[in-house]
Amino acid sequence: MEIVLIDKFIVPEESKERFLEEVHKSATFLRILPGFVEGFIYEKTDGESRHNVVTTAVWQDEEAFQNAKKSAAEGFKKIGFNPPEIMKNLNVEIERAVYRRSPYEPALRGVCEGAKRSGKRGSMKLVVLGATGSTGLEIVRQAMEHGHSVTAFVRSPERVKAFGDRITIKKGNLLDPAELEPVIKGHDAVLSAFGPRVPMAKADANLLRKFAVALTSAMPHAGVTRLVVESVAFLFKDAIIPPAYLLGRLFFPGVVADASAMEKVFEKSGLEWRCVRPN
Ligand SMILES: NC(=O)c1ccc[n+]([C@@H]2O[C@H](COP(=O)([O-])OP(=O)(O)OC[C@H]3O[C@@H](n4cnc5c(N)ncnc54)[C@H](OP(=O)(O)O)[C@@H]3O)[C@@H](O)[C@H]2O)c1
Repeated sequence: MEIVLIDKFIVPEESKERFLEEVHKSATFLRILPGFVEGFIYEKTDGESRHNVVTTAVWQDEEAFQNAKKSAAEGFKKIGFNPPEIMKNLNVEIERAVYRRSPYEPALRGVCEGAKRSGKRGSMKLVVLGATGSTGLEIVRQAMEHGHSVTAFVRSPERVKAFGDRITIKKGNLLDPAELEPVIKGHDAVLSAFGPRVPMAKADANLLRKFAVALTSAMPHAGVTRLVVESVAFLFKDAIIPPAYLLGRLFFPGVVADASAMEKVFEKSGLEWRCVRPN
């Protein structure tokens, strides 16, 4: 059963910006731990509650939660990140509690649990973007291997010809929401390995951000909210060995800026999105 950690904070207005920066910092660490499902930061916009910031972190199960607590304590200590001290300095009060969560529709949960017990995963209808690239081809291959049905929306259909009629291939412009929307409609999730071809053309300087803007516009209209996106490991700001962010900023500043802009667009989108940063 999933475990939800809910922290409710009372944050003085003058400390809010600094406090939210620190929350994002710890989230960057937590979201890559095994068993992390999703996390959200809520800022109060209206209402009577004394708490003006709420954070939630969902863990796959009790074991993942306990391991995460341990890893977080060790990881934070290593990088000198001390949440109690930060809260004290910023005059922030916290109330913390752990919850169980279940979906509104118990019937849906039954289906998932049944699937888990039998060791099978339900087959999903997936849209793969960037399907003709090195990661994309692997995603298509593995999705098929796991029994999912795949629609590849591509600009170069000849590159996925080898899959024949085992997948649906649609040709079009991945930067155009009006073209993305009808392709995505009726699917369960979108998986993206879209990214600029190397060597990068000047025209591709903001490609990832443009792509994110198009996709976040198309997906809600298509009624699909689940998304997994491939990004870059240079955005692991807290990575020390190797210092990925520093190296990225030094040697690939354009990539870092564009991928960071892309992630920001997805972050603000309200989609259920997950980011993969391979290194
Ligand atoms: N592979 C890795 O080890 C690795 C590691 C870290 C990060 N990443 C990041 O993950 C992403 C994917 O990596 P990859 O190695 O799989 O990339 P890739 O082999 O270069 O594939 C890029 C994909 O994006 C598509 N694409 C690029 N520009 C397009 C455009 N304007 N319109 C439509 N489609 C477009 C390509 O389509 P075409 O076939 O039509 O060109 C291709 O399907 C990149 O952003 C990369 O920086 C990859």
